[in-house]
Amino acid sequence: MKICKLKNGKELVIRKAVREDASKIIDFTKTVFGETTYLTRTPEEFLITVEEEEKFIEETNKKNNCIFLVAEVDNEIVGTLTFSASSSHRTRHIGEFGMSVKKAYWGLGIGSNLLAYLIDWARETGVIRKINLKMREDNVRARALYEKFGFKTEGIITRYFYIEGKFYNVIEMGLEVN
Ligand SMILES: CC(C)(COP(=O)(O)OP(=O)(O)OC[C@H]1O[C@@H](n2cnc3c(N)ncnc32)[C@H](O)[C@@H]1OP(=O)(O)O)[C@@H](O)C(=O)NCCC(=O)NCCS
Repeated sequence: MKICKLKNGKELVIRKAVREDASKIIDFTKTVFGETTYLTRTPEEFLITVEEEEKFIEETNKKNNCIFLVAEVDNEIVGTLTFSASSSHRTRHIGEFGMSVKKAYWGLGIGSNLLAYLIDWARETGVIRKINLKMREDNVRARALYEKFGFKTEGIITRYFYIEGKFYNVIEMGLEVN
């Protein structure tokens, strides 16, 4: 767990998700899916049940190369980050993450603190050697965040998103750790 101060003076708690967070995480996720088109799904497509979310949290917590983080302000979940890696012997050292912060809390440092936590954790696992991500090409805020932490562009996937008749490319970025 990590406690830090946000730019608005509020206290931010970053910790691993636990089973009891499942219902709050579902509500949070539906909210953020409705706030931005930078994420792959719409709120209507997020049909996971509380039981499935609980199972996902527990399964993640059992693995030494995966992590599910929540960011809380005033006991409310305002951000999440999930990092998943394979169990295959040859690729268990790489994983990909996705993160989101509630729109009302953008620009306060929550994304930076979540990412710093992930990178510190990855370095300590002794397993993870590379962190990957995919990002919509025009997501300038996310790009600034990832570049600030040293992520490098490794490739472009064209036509990844198709939204209201317009295609968007996705950039693949990576950070080597250890
Ligand atoms: C991307 C996201 C996670 C960033 O979270 P955040 O809490 O706003 O991040 P931070 O406040 O730590 O800001 C991170 C950096 O973004 C950049 N940034 C902040 N405000 C910005 C703005 N208005 N325009 C451009 N860049 C901006 C800055 O470089 C900032 O770092 P700095 O404060 O040290 O200068 C958040 O905006 C979000 O959830 N977006 C929607 C979902 C999404 O796009 N997820 C990522 C998918 S790949």
